[in-house]
Amino acid sequence: MSVDQLIARLDELARQDAPLEQLLDEAVRGLHETDPRFHWTGVYELFEDHMLRLGPFVGAPTDHVFIGVGNGVCGTAIAERRNMNVPDVRETSNYLACSTETRSELVILIRDGETIYGQIDIDSHRVAAFDEAAVAQVQRVADWLARAYAAKASSRRTTG
Ligand code: SME
Repeated sequence: MSVDQLIARLDELARQDAPLEQLLDEAVRGLHETDPRFHWTGVYELFEDHMLRLGPFVGAPTDHVFIGVGNGVCGTAIAERRNMNVPDVRETSNYLACSTETRSELVILIRDGETIYGQIDIDSHRVAAFDEAAVAQVQRVADWLARAYAAKASSRRTTG
C-alpha cells in the first residue's frame, strides 16, 4: 500500500463517519505496510494527565504502554514539542527499549497548530532508516490524523 492509497482509504472511512479508533487503527496498519524498513509502527495518544498511552500498533508487544512526558524518545518529543528522528538509538541515553533489534526511531507529532494529540512512533532495525522521503510520508499521515482529531469532539483532546 502507498501513502496515497492509505490517505484515500482514510478519506473514505471518514466520509462514512468511522470512529477515531478505527481511523487510528487503519492508519497504523496501512502505514506499516508502506515501507519494509518499518519494523514497529504505532500511535501514542496524549492524555490530559501528560501521559502518552499506547494505541494501535503493529510489531512486537512493548512494555512501554504508558510513557510520561519527558521520558524516552517519545516523551521528549512531547516535552520539546518537536519531531524526533534518531539515527541510532544506541547513542541516545534517554531511550526506552522496545526491542533489542531496534536501531533507529522516528516520532512524528500528531498536531494541529499548538494542539498536540499524540504521535506516530516507528522503529526500524536499520540504522538511519528514516530518510527525508520516509519522514515526509509519515508526516502526511500524522497531519491527516491531526485533522481527524480536530474534527471529532473528543473528550480525550488535550492542548499539551
Ligand atoms: N523507544 C521509545 C519507546 C516506545 S517503543 O519504541 C515502542 C522511547 O524511547 O520513547
